[in-house]
Amino acid sequence: MDVEEALLARRSIRAFTDREVEPELLARALTTAAYAPSGGNLQPWHVVVVRGEPLRRLVNRVTERINDPAAPAPTPDYEMYPSPLKSPYRERRFRNGEMLYDLLGIPREDRVARLRQFARNYRFFDAPVALFLYVDRDMGRPQWADLGMFLQSLMLVLTEQGVDTCPQVAWSTYHDTVAEITAPPAELMLCCGLAIGYADTAAPVNRLRTERAPLQEWCRFLD
Ligand SMILES: Cc1cc2nc3c(=O)[nH]c(=O)nc-3n(C[C@H](O)[C@H](O)[C@H](O)COP(=O)(O)O)c2cc1C
Repeated sequence: MDVEEALLARRSIRAFTDREVEPELLARALTTAAYAPSGGNLQPWHVVVVRGEPLRRLVNRVTERINDPAAPAPTPDYEMYPSPLKSPYRERRFRNGEMLYDLLGIPREDRVARLRQFARNYRFFDAPVALFLYVDRDMGRPQWADLGMFLQSLMLVLTEQGVDTCPQVAWSTYHDTVAEITAPPAELMLCCGLAIGYADTAAPVNRLRTERAPLQEWCRFLD
């Protein structure tokens, strides 16, 4: 698989089988992904990989918290999206949600079913491996961009190996529950999670093929 093939093959997968990912494969993919560029070569990424018993404990804890009406409201470290989300981003986000829920046969009015599907984020969509990506709180926008390059590099290397992923900003909402398991140093902030495993090819949710805005909409060539 060349780079272009891997780019076009990678998709966010939201239902995984229980097939394990070889630890050596994962360690190698992480090592390779760290060749992603970063300003000043700061390599500002910090990663915690969680699987097995700690992963089960984390999923149980966050599920208990979500289902407990008396639990403290989440205190995210950062906003997932600007509010309000302006055009054309708002429409793109809306379209993405509509395509996903249409595929699952969940109507717009069925808020409960939509929330139930969203809550699958907090089981890592049943992936056997969970990864958390952290960044030092002192770091600014350029370093967050570096994290994005690391994340995409990792997903592409895994795609090449036939391993599927779903990046998950949803975990930032419950960063404190995650911290009970991952115990990060206080100076680190959770950027996002990444579900890693093998796609359940029979699951309708995995049939989603997202769209991209045409080149002319977001690129200008001056010559
Ligand atoms: C940083 C980041 C965070 C994301 N967070 C979530 C998430 O919390 N839950 C989810 O289901 N998808 C999440 N996604 C997946 C996006 O919805 C997906 O990348 C987008 O719709 C394009 O689809 P594709 O990845 O299949 O190409 C995230 C993607 C990125 C890059």
